[in-house]
Amino acid sequence: MDGNGRWARKRLMPRYLGHRAGLEAVRKTVEQCIEYGVEVLTLFAFSSENWRRPKKEVGMLMDLFMSALNKEVRRLDRNGVRLRIIGAREAFPQALQDKIAEAERKTAGNDKLVLQIAANYGGRWDVTQAARILARRVARGEMDPEAIDEAMIASELAFPDLPDPDLFIRTGGEQRLSNFVLWQAAYAELYFTDLLWPDFDAQAFADALISFAGRERRFGRTSEQVQGEDGA
Ligand code: FPP
Repeated sequence: MDGNGRWARKRLMPRYLGHRAGLEAVRKTVEQCIEYGVEVLTLFAFSSENWRRPKKEVGMLMDLFMSALNKEVRRLDRNGVRLRIIGAREAFPQALQDKIAEAERKTAGNDKLVLQIAANYGGRWDVTQAARILARRVARGEMDPEAIDEAMIASELAFPDLPDPDLFIRTGGEQRLSNFVLWQAAYAELYFTDLLWPDFDAQAFADALISFAGRERRFGRTSEQVQGEDGA
């Protein structure tokens, strides 16, 4: 969700108002997902590297997460949304951690859309924590290192029970992954738009989905194989 700061600056407003406008775009995107039948939406809200931002902006983002949890969870729950937070949550203030746990508990039974918020998340962090869990098992003699395969690593990542993402959207004009779901996005279709996140509206989302619908997903096979399968 890149571009909040620039959106605000363009309007001669402080950056935090860009993040507030970004939250509005989150609301709309969640509604769109429900409408289109998207089953999982994962949003990169705060990266492991975002702590490097000015203290004031970090504090403001924490306040925004807190107030969003306070204000939105009831509506999410009503709409059948299951909320999950992925990332190293132990770094957050205790009150925020408690709110997160409560929101996850409250919405755990919902199945219309899984909304994952990546907060203090990094793709490298994710793989590293999975490696640590497996290394502990090996050290305890519970497992042979030779038994480690891709499926086992995947089973210790942040969301092992959900499918790998199909479509990866980045707003704000940069064309990079910036340490988001690195392992899980191995076969994701990448979509970049110059729109700043607060300007990402229903039309922009539809454009991304239309682009996705036109992609040929080969997963290592040839185009002929894939088309033969489709036509068979
Ligand atoms: C990146 O834009 C955006 C963030 C670091 C924060 C994202 C947060 C929100 C959209 C609001 C809250 C969301 C939830 C789910 C509660 P940037 O600040 O890097 O923009 P810039 O590149 O223009 O400076």
